[in-house]
Amino acid sequence: MALGKLCVVGLGYVGLPVAAKFAEVGFNVAGIDIVKNKVTLINEGKSPIEGNEPDLAELVAKVVSDGSLRAFTSYESVKDADFVIIVVETPFDNGAHKPIYGALISATKSVGQHIKKGVLVIIESTVAPGTVKNIVQPLLESESGMVAGTDFMLATAPERVMPGKLLHNLVHMDRVVGGIDEASTSKAVELYKHIVKGHLYPVDSTTAEVVKTVENAYRDVQIAFANEIALLCENIGVDVWQVRDLVNRAPSRNMHLPGAGVGGHCLPKDSWLLAFGAKGKYKPKLISLARDINDAMPAHMSDLCEEALQSHNLRLHGSNVTILGVAYLENSDDTRNSPALILKQNLEVLGINTTLHDPHVKSTDTFRVLSDFEEAVENSDCVAIVTAHDEYRKIDLDRLKGLMRTPILVDGRNVLDPDECSHKGFSFRAIGRPIRNARNH
Ligand SMILES: NC(=O)c1ccc[n+]([C@@H]2O[C@H](COP(=O)([O-])OP(=O)(O)OC[C@H]3O[C@@H](n4cnc5c(N)ncnc54)[C@H](O)[C@@H]3O)[C@@H](O)[C@H]2O)c1
Repeated sequence: MALGKLCVVGLGYVGLPVAAKFAEVGFNVAGIDIVKNKVTLINEGKSPIEGNEPDLAELVAKVVSDGSLRAFTSYESVKDADFVIIVVETPFDNGAHKPIYGALISATKSVGQHIKKGVLVIIESTVAPGTVKNIVQPLLESESGMVAGTDFMLATAPERVMPGKLLHNLVHMDRVVGGIDEASTSKAVELYKHIVKGHLYPVDSTTAEVVKTVENAYRDVQIAFANEIALLCENIGVDVWQVRDLVNRAPSRNMHLPGAGVGGHCLPKDSWLLAFGAKGKYKPKLISLARDINDAMPAHMSDLCEEALQSHNLRLHGSNVTILGVAYLENSDDTRNSPALILKQNLEVLGINTTLHDPHVKSTDTFRVLSDFEEAVENSDCVAIVTAHDEYRKIDLDRLKGLMRTPILVDGRNVLDPDECSHKGFSFRAIGRPIRNARNH
């Protein structure tokens, strides 16, 4: 006997692991997505998520083959569902300064048109504070003709997963669960106890929304601090990685990692979702500045490449730069808001030819990615590392130097050893490190 019927709307990086996990523990799960190819692939028992995602492909194969997870493009299965989880994308329009809720509104309307009495609807998408009460609840009520808190329950349970650790974080992380009333909160807590081994903290829905967006705003500010210190270190002429290591030996200091840019679906927008919740009554200064600092890092990578090429007396126009890593995160295939793609644009504006390499990312209609490392670096004047994929930690520097036209390395993720690189005859540039020219340069 199944533990109940559960629908997951949105089968992306978050929705697919959630659906598979509830299926594994005994729910009869229907996954819904508007992308037909994704639905077909999942029904063949295959995970559309590439990269190093431990246990996910195996779990999807298992729950599809035993019939506990099925995927659909229609919402029919919502009709007899006891639980519906909505976890569609929630980007932010930086120009108009408001969330882009097209997917959330469309999914919520479709769910509202199909739900039965007594259902618990849960929003797992990250949303601006107040969204569940002010947007989702009225939409569900108007579409269903029912009243939240009387005829159906409504809660939010924001996710703390990240690519590379999707299943692990889903199961082991503590998380907040916030309903629009106590009945919704406690029903949602009971539901998540089936898959979450971490602690579940019951709160109200708005508090849950604030907690989620603050978590990511906090991280973004921490990264911006590390990036600013890296830029200072470069200009002072010291090594930020040594500085960071020693700073973190002082009590209560935990300086974050600087790098070539913050990407992904979440960090670049969750600070803005948080700010949006204050409805303009307070305009944040610190988190807004942090966003600007982090957004500028790919341009800084471009400056490092430009300076290194010019130091070799190369004309920018017509020189070749190979960008290693298109995914925003190591060992992942997620290219949303990828710093590499911004770097590519910046370099191309200077007339520089760019080649993208990534072992986990496939070419799309908008960019071409090579998976063969040697093909990607051959005849290159500069190799710029944007993502710390494991593969890049094992680069054979002698072989690389033999393939490149000019031996320049720009390390945006502290992947390579600067001493080794200059000993091997490379000009070496890195975020947060003094310039090193090749021994023989
Ligand atoms: N990716 C992460 O690591 C992560 C972590 C924590 C929270 N979140 C939040 O979770 C939410 C989802 O993120 P994601 O990374 O899974 O996004 P995603 O883009 O990978 O997945 C969203 C899915 O929803 C589908 N979809 C869109 N509109 C739909 C509709 N009307 N009906 C059915 N399906 C629809 C899309 O086709 C897509 O497959 C976002 O709010 C995000 O901020 C993501």
